[in-house]
Amino acid sequence: MSNGLVTAAYIVAAILFILSLAGLSKQETARKGNKFGIFGMAIALIVTILSVNVQSIVFILVAMLIGGLIGVRLALKVEMTEMPELVASLHSFVGLAALLVGYNSFIKIFTNVHSQVSSTLLNIELIEIFLGVFIGAITFTGSVVAYGKLHGIIKSKALSLPHKHKLNAFALIAAIVLMFLFVNAGGSMIYLAIMTVIALLFGWHLVASIGGADMPVVISMLNSYSGWAAAAAGFMLSNDLLIVTGALVGSSGAILSYIMCKAMNRSFISVIAGGFGNDGASAGDSEEMGEYREMSPEEVAQLLKQSNSVIITPGYGMAVAQAQYPVAEITNKLRDKGIKVRFAIHPVAGRLPGHMNVLLAEAKVPYDIVLEMDEINEDFPETDTVLVIGANDTVNPSAQDNPTSPIAGMPVLEVWKAQNVVVFKRSMRTGYAGVQNPLFFKDNTYMCFGDAKTTVQSILKSI
Ligand code: TAP
Repeated sequence: MSNGLVTAAYIVAAILFILSLAGLSKQETARKGNKFGIFGMAIALIVTILSVNVQSIVFILVAMLIGGLIGVRLALKVEMTEMPELVASLHSFVGLAALLVGYNSFIKIFTNVHSQVSSTLLNIELIEIFLGVFIGAITFTGSVVAYGKLHGIIKSKALSLPHKHKLNAFALIAAIVLMFLFVNAGGSMIYLAIMTVIALLFGWHLVASIGGADMPVVISMLNSYSGWAAAAAGFMLSNDLLIVTGALVGSSGAILSYIMCKAMNRSFISVIAGGFGNDGASAGDSEEMGEYREMSPEEVAQLLKQSNSVIITPGYGMAVAQAQYPVAEITNKLRDKGIKVRFAIHPVAGRLPGHMNVLLAEAKVPYDIVLEMDEINEDFPETDTVLVIGANDTVNPSAQDNPTSPIAGMPVLEVWKAQNVVVFKRSMRTGYAGVQNPLFFKDNTYMCFGDAKTTVQSILKSI
């Protein structure tokens, strides 16, 4: 296929990727957005394989077949609750790919074209390689740690090494100095290798130092890094589509990180440099907080039938229990009785941006009753009953009342302002941030213990 045709097809694929992102920004159009993305990626792959620069198509097809089979198997097997881990592991592949492309390009320069390119062009190529490997290495180890933390293999608590800020600053300064030495020497494997080790450790430390409730920022940050790593690989391979796609992922990841930081009331720089979350602040103990009261599913059903307005605030526990289907059924039953039912969605509820919205859409809950935190937070005082289904950190009043809490300052759903609050969970254990929740001990709060799906099904029967 000629270069002109390849370029034209790349432009079409890039436009499809932009349409895909636009589609994914709303639930109603998300499916269409996905289709645009699949179509664009198919064009990109076919055209790249058929382009004149590609040799040994058989090897590529065999690698794609193996990769494709693993991908399909994983996608079919993965539970919705394991999606964040899957995303983190995919980010690590992007980082590793950029790192390998960097080394490959470096070796190629020195075996093929070293003598043919001007020194300015060589310098530009060397800087591209250095940056590509640097970003790739950080993305790789950072994503591996994020995977470990989300999967529970690595403790979610923030790692707090002595002088951690100085260590980060040292890694950055060392990388800059090494880049100058690398370019000055006209390329040197030693400098590249030393920087790679520093960047791998830097990536590891950066994510390990962020803990508890600040993980959403890490996930979106790594999403952004993986985009920039892909863009860097695009520069090294002189592939325009990879540059455009990488830039799209990088910038949309950066926007998502900004939204996440706003949702957590954190500054982006202080999260990545400071490593908030479980920073040694007091977490509180359930024994210190006093007594809690229990309510049976039958009593909850009674309470719901007597209410005029109900707000449901779902969290990670609803996803684990797969309780969204009976929750949707209860919603329909209550709405049929003329009771006003709405959902309040915290921006970081669950383990993935938009996690709750996806689950509720899956269970066919109408979009117009699913409201964001800012849209509904003022309505709690006029609400009769709030059902907190498997949520914990996102409804924790200590974020507002306790300045020493690891989640202090994070905006939360003010559920305690309603007449009655019923919390569905299995025990008095803490949520992801490891912080005890004073909500459970308030006078208007009742605990309904058990697996969320079983409990909600019992309520459904009683209604
Ligand atoms: P969490 O604070 O994680 O609390 C979830 C609660 O669900 C737990 O307290 C648990 O209590 C309960 N639970 C678990 N399985 C259950 C089941 N089968 N049935 C009933 N309850 C169950 O949830 P949240 O309010 O959604 O907050 C999310 C947290 O995750 C935040 O700290 C957030 O920063 C963090 N995080 C979010 C993301 C994104 S991007 N959204 C990514 C990483 C981390 P029991 O064990 O007692 O049942």
